[in-house]
Amino acid sequence: MCGIVGYIGRRDVAPLLLEGLQRLEYRGYDSAGIAIHGDGTGRNGGLRTARATGRVRELEARLPKRFTGTAGIAHTRWATHGAPCDENAHPHQDADGKIALVHNGIIDNAAELRARLESEGVVFTSETDTETLAHLIARSRAETLEEKVREALRLVEGTYGIAVLHADFPDRIVVARNGSPVVLGLGEHEMFVASDVAALVSHTRQVITLDDGEMATIKADDYRTYTTEGSRTAAAPETVDWVAESYDMAGHDTYMHKEITEQADAVDRVLRGRIDDRFATVRLGGLNLDAREARSVRRVKILGCGSAYHAGLIGAQLIEELARIPADAEPASEFRYRNAVVDPDTLYIAVSQSGETYDTLAAVQELKRKGARVLGVVNVVGSAIARETDGGVYVHAGPEICVVSTKCFTNTAVAFALLALHLGRIRDLSVADGKRIIDGLRRLPAQIAEIVAQEAEIEKIAGEYADARSMMFVGRVRGYPVALEASLKLKEISYIHAEAYPASELKHGPLALIEPAVPTVAVLPDDELLDKNRATLEEVKARHGRILAVAHQEQERADHTVVVPRNETELDPILMGIPLQLLAYHTALALGRDIDKPRNLAKSVTVE
Ligand code: F6R
Repeated sequence: MCGIVGYIGRRDVAPLLLEGLQRLEYRGYDSAGIAIHGDGTGRNGGLRTARATGRVRELEARLPKRFTGTAGIAHTRWATHGAPCDENAHPHQDADGKIALVHNGIIDNAAELRARLESEGVVFTSETDTETLAHLIARSRAETLEEKVREALRLVEGTYGIAVLHADFPDRIVVARNGSPVVLGLGEHEMFVASDVAALVSHTRQVITLDDGEMATIKADDYRTYTTEGSRTAAAPETVDWVAESYDMAGHDTYMHKEITEQADAVDRVLRGRIDDRFATVRLGGLNLDAREARSVRRVKILGCGSAYHAGLIGAQLIEELARIPADAEPASEFRYRNAVVDPDTLYIAVSQSGETYDTLAAVQELKRKGARVLGVVNVVGSAIARETDGGVYVHAGPEICVVSTKCFTNTAVAFALLALHLGRIRDLSVADGKRIIDGLRRLPAQIAEIVAQEAEIEKIAGEYADARSMMFVGRVRGYPVALEASLKLKEISYIHAEAYPASELKHGPLALIEPAVPTVAVLPDDELLDKNRATLEEVKARHGRILAVAHQEQERADHTVVVPRNETELDPILMGIPLQLLAYHTALALGRDIDKPRNLAKSVTVE
């Protein structure tokens, strides 16, 4: 979604900000803008801005001549209030053009504030909620920029990450956070600010992540953090270990391709240092759940959105199978609105790649308010969900840049296998079963590499299904979350309509859709349900449906089979999703889609 980047120092700011925006492009956006202080010589004082609908390169083309200076802010916008157009792009300014402000989040009481400001004669130039903030700051009579911003924020309800420039305060940028990430990057005689470390890591790895309710002033040689009430805070810098190269395409045509093909390494990373052969278990340092607490858990409820929710479904099955604790997963977006009963004996687990998804974060906050114990299974270290939860397991997939999730989905499923094994071994999973699962986990990276090596074959198959009007994905028990995720992947990037059903449900309705233009993708692990799954293939064949099977052996009734290596049955779903990521990828490629930036989608959904 929206992205913020800011810089103050000694270097020419516009190229730095444009580079930062490009690093945030992956989040999804529809317009971009930039504001800088003049060149500091006094000849060109005041603020200068440029905005453009479309990509960052369109903004770059629109920059006025000699657009130079050493302090500025920039933004990529994903429209919420008001259509994507130049007027609605950030930065927004007050009537005198003294203030420029970029904002991520949503001001809930914007309509009310706007009406009040308009009745006092303020003329708005955009339809955005953000512009109200620029006018509110301009109206403050406080002496310092910090106090002006603070006064404005007191009137605002909603979520924000903001960065503010003021023509009368050229030595500083003031930023604030409430529900939308803001990260400071500390350099030598220069400071950065961004909504995502991706925009910073090519310049500095020393960062400070602001908390909700925190503000900061950054100057070229100095920074300070304080609360929105004005008291100083002592946020300590952390070193980020995601290096700039992991944000590059490394010779691939798309981030999605890079991320699918690097899954063997990613899985190796999530396992590294965690397996404890002596006790046939795993060590999960950050879990913060001792053996007595783990034994007293009566239920597990997993919450996440989209692919994270699907990984959570796999996680719930693993926890039931290995730890014998009743477990289920639910979309966090549903859970938070349905006034769910919060049970003290239930362990809640929030799942998120970004750690910023608003619905998941809101579910965590609601659970915490009601006294629940909430763990996180999160990829981005230090993200909001990682910080709000009581402990958890990092997924260690590395930065995931493509809007659609692939390697993080797989690593999250593996992280759940680790958690399930850990809980199982504390409860009643035998040493032999613990060893069996550990051996299976160790085999995963090589088996993933084997699957990825079948890419050319899968590409050919994708070519045959790219003409589909719609696609049906089916699986039973362990195969069902895989079917759900594969169907989501296909629709996200190829725009082919797809549905996922438990295979057993097909005959209760969806069978009516089956015909040659609606192929079926069947996930058929070699488990106790294989014969039942084969019966489903018969039902489809009888309606002249084409079938692609993902299985451990060739399927006679299928038109095509992708054969996946066998692992332990509990771990099958982890491997079976991977060929279907490649299927979605090559189908989208055959249809000429913009794979890394699918229409209408954003990487981190930080609004409701
Ligand atoms: C699908 C996808 C989304 C995300 C969802 C949650 O490919 O990427 O469905 O999984 O928006 O995002 P996180 O995991 O960041 O909470």
